[in-house]
Amino acid sequence: MPQAPAVPMRWPAERAPGCPFDPPPATTELLATEPISRVSLWNGRTAWLVTRHADQAALLRDSRISANNTLPGYPSIGAGNEAARAHNRSFLFMDDPEHNVRRRAYTADFTVRRTRQLAPRIQGIIDDLLDALEHQGPPADLVTAFALPLPSLIICELLGVPYSDHDFFQQASAVIINTRSAPETVLKASGELIEYLGNLIEHKVHHPGDDLLSRIASQQLATGVSTKEECANEARLLLIAGHETTANMIALGTCVLLQHPDQLAAVRDGTPERVANAVEEMLRYLTIVHNGRRRVALEDIEIGGVHIAAGDAVICANDAANRDPAVFDAPEQLDIDRSARRHMAFGSGPHQCLGQNLARVELQLAYPALLRRFPGLRLDSELNDIRFKETTVVYGVHELPVTW
Ligand code: HEM
Repeated sequence: MPQAPAVPMRWPAERAPGCPFDPPPATTELLATEPISRVSLWNGRTAWLVTRHADQAALLRDSRISANNTLPGYPSIGAGNEAARAHNRSFLFMDDPEHNVRRRAYTADFTVRRTRQLAPRIQGIIDDLLDALEHQGPPADLVTAFALPLPSLIICELLGVPYSDHDFFQQASAVIINTRSAPETVLKASGELIEYLGNLIEHKVHHPGDDLLSRIASQQLATGVSTKEECANEARLLLIAGHETTANMIALGTCVLLQHPDQLAAVRDGTPERVANAVEEMLRYLTIVHNGRRRVALEDIEIGGVHIAAGDAVICANDAANRDPAVFDAPEQLDIDRSARRHMAFGSGPHQCLGQNLARVELQLAYPALLRRFPGLRLDSELNDIRFKETTVVYGVHELPVTW
């Protein structure tokens, strides 16, 4: 095995200029040279960066690995993230059995069956947004006109959050997920969001609607199973995860298809099965939740010839796993007809994305509807002039100028 470099690589590494869809080359190169390697973090601490798909699949299921972000060794990703870690804890940062108990309260809402039942409603929202876009005429920013409102409207309906408050919660979540946000701004945005959602859930105890937060209000808050803060922390997770991720996937996915006209045509004209397959491949290829699955070792672990000591930080680089040639042939190529079923875009193990079925239905309907409505859709800017979200935990584009 090659010797570890004297100065560990700084993580996250930078993407290569002009290659906005590829993970940082320094990360993917480690797959071949040193698949479990020491990296240095923003605060000078170090972590083990795990790049191989097989090692990540094993570690993310290993009960000796913890997602508890209050443990001293936890690899936070910036000063704001570090400051906020003791606050607003949701099951994303808990281990089983506590994690499982809390996550189970929501799993029935996100099954394949339940999310497929939402398809007509999702299609209705898509059609309304596309009608408005067509009426407004070109050029347009696809993020504000389509990619962001679509998942925001859907998660608001599911949770029972008034969409009219979208400026407030979208701005708060943009601050929270930016790794460069200052600690005080993260704490302020997060605190305001928690207060807003806590009050909303409390209101629903006496004024229930047909929505998920009303159920949490009656089954958890009113019964004393959970505190107002616990309910609000979970609502915050669902609200942010429910719109930021899918919104970026819609915009970035459209951007990448526009660079591959043949594959774009196949998504536009494909059968639902072919489109569903294409969505998995785009999830693999883009890995928008790109800052690794961050964990701490609870015990000593031997893996891949490396000794991970109890207390060490571990980062499973799911962007690298999605480019692992041991699992995906020619992983650097977008190929919407390959089987990308084993991708790690939704993570792996007990924390694997709760909302993945909902995201799939939204994406499978959104891309073909957009491309059919505007067959002449094209970028209204050079690719090089588009601002990519380098510093947020969800990768994407700030704006996507399009015309047709
Ligand atoms: C967890 C990605 C959409 C809710 C995760 C994780 C990833 C991910 C990578 C694992 C985190 C970890 O292991 O540390 C994505 C992507 C999406 C998406 C790429 C869209 C393209 C959604 C949606 C929801 C959602 C629509 C709806 C509410 C969650 C929740 C968790 C999670 C609640 C935490 C699960 C747990 O800790 O048990 N997601 N997600 N996600 N996601 Fe998503």
